[in-house]
Amino acid sequence: MHLLDLETSPKEFIETVIEGAEKFLEVVKRPIRKVPSLKGRTVITFFVEPSTRTRVSFELAAKRLSADIVNISASTSSLQKGETLLDTVKNLERMVFDALVIRHSVPYSPHFIAHHLGRGSVINAGDGSHEHPTQALLDMATVKSIFGRLDGLKIAIIGDIAHSRVARSNIWGFHKMGSEVWVCGPPTMMPRNIERLPCRFTYSLDEAVEEADVVMALRIQKERFKDPLFPSEMEYHEFYGVKGSVLKRAKKNAVVMHPGPMNRGVEISSEVADGGRSVILDQVEMGVAVRMSILFHLVGGES
Ligand code: NCD
Repeated sequence: MHLLDLETSPKEFIETVIEGAEKFLEVVKRPIRKVPSLKGRTVITFFVEPSTRTRVSFELAAKRLSADIVNISASTSSLQKGETLLDTVKNLERMVFDALVIRHSVPYSPHFIAHHLGRGSVINAGDGSHEHPTQALLDMATVKSIFGRLDGLKIAIIGDIAHSRVARSNIWGFHKMGSEVWVCGPPTMMPRNIERLPCRFTYSLDEAVEEADVVMALRIQKERFKDPLFPSEMEYHEFYGVKGSVLKRAKKNAVVMHPGPMNRGVEISSEVADGGRSVILDQVEMGVAVRMSILFHLVGGES
């Protein structure tokens, strides 16, 4: 079984991962943070794009499940010498892995690899601006741990929707779990096919945040476009930055999220990022538990 996107993942899978994460969160908070569940299994992480949180949390998740883990990156792999992605993966396959966690700038490259593999699970750790399913799973698990449910909540996702894989996975995930998803950003950062995604959209930050339970700020994905999409960072912050004055419109117990890395003073103010409503570091903590749950469910059951 693979984890390639949330668009095609059943609701039951999302529920199973979140329930598992609740249990693994308890494990990672113990003084001895290790269980033998994946002893003798092998996980390879292959990151062809930069990563701090996702890569480290997958490594910690595998280690805390007692799996063997090997980390490779684009700069240290033979991709540098002109080897194709598929040849690299076919070679890794012969050395035998149970899960391959891959991040790549090309959308659907994890799907492509999964299609050509004979054995082992492929886990998408972010494919260009397409999807980032494990981030959305940890975001949903974080929200569930705070509100006790996901259905009926208003989730406002703010920023560079067009280029954000986090937005796309969260739209599918939260929608499947019964939340009402709103996305908001400048017209230049709204996907062309937004009507085809299961969410509401608006260019007004006030409308998006009004009575929201969750306000999620997204980084502008500068590496994914050439020409500027807004006049200046100062203006962007003025109109689309999540700051104290904006949060006043949300529900009293609303929380603020961000997948990281943050650009303070652009999509989010420091006052909000470090404030009492921020659960940004809780998301990071949940990231390890969710990735343990994912590895356990994809790899643990097979002989
Ligand atoms: C995100 C990503 O890589 O898509 N980061 C992450 O995985 N936590 C978001 C981003 O880079 O802005």
